[in-house]
Amino acid sequence: MLVLLHRDYDDLSVAAARIIAAAVRRKPSLILGLASGGTTSGMYRELARMHRQEALDFSKTATFNLDEYIGLAPEHPRSFHYFMDDNFFSHVNIPRSKIHIPDGTVRTGYEEYCQSYEDAIRGAGGIDLQILGIGRDGHIGFNEPASSLGSRTRPKTLSRTTLEDNCRNFAPGEEMPTCAITMGIGTILEARRIILLASGSAKAKAVALAIEGPITASVSASALQLHPDVTFLVDEDAATELAQTEYYHRVMEMTAKLTPERLW
Ligand code: F6R
Repeated sequence: MLVLLHRDYDDLSVAAARIIAAAVRRKPSLILGLASGGTTSGMYRELARMHRQEALDFSKTATFNLDEYIGLAPEHPRSFHYFMDDNFFSHVNIPRSKIHIPDGTVRTGYEEYCQSYEDAIRGAGGIDLQILGIGRDGHIGFNEPASSLGSRTRPKTLSRTTLEDNCRNFAPGEEMPTCAITMGIGTILEARRIILLASGSAKAKAVALAIEGPITASVSASALQLHPDVTFLVDEDAATELAQTEYYHRVMEMTAKLTPERLW
């Protein structure tokens, strides 16, 4: 596990974008696992800039998003489809046919639908690089506390904390979905490389539990400790509850000297 401490949100966003850009340049047909949510928007902005100004080419890249609210159609302004289009897909050249996001309008046959999403990931060759955010309750994707560490893509009921946090994206009086389709923790752990972005003091506790706490179903992100190639990008405010920051700084210095490519 590599923990990269960044001064602020902008630094973290640029660092995340550089990791993705380097991976796409190394392997243009990269299979990219994507997250939506406020934390990722700076990273998407930087990737769009790199596409525009530095000829970063996504024409062979395929993407699989982690999750979508059940009940929201792709054109719904609060859907993750809409968020992804608005923040990323409409600004870069990923072919539409290579973009995959769980369908929030599925009404029946969830098991078959979720299996088909898993099959599509596997059929594409598996995820090369998975991007994650983290919830205040430690969720990755929408794997809320007490999700099985081996879980696969499935419908999931949102936790009270997630409902409180994400209702800020919905207008007063607007009904917010209470369930989502999400890749499972087992699905996420199959990605070859994972990076998790965490910004802001509200995430500090979850970040500390994920990185330094015990592996537990109570904090889904702690399952990442089992993964052989995971990098946490954490800004100063999100790092305040970490106990080992001095050590992470020294690791960053050594990594920059010995294997600078691991920083992006
Ligand atoms: C969204 C997702 C979630 C978010 C998390 C953090 O696709 O998978 O796990 O990454 O809820 O959301 P923000 O960034 O809005 O704080």
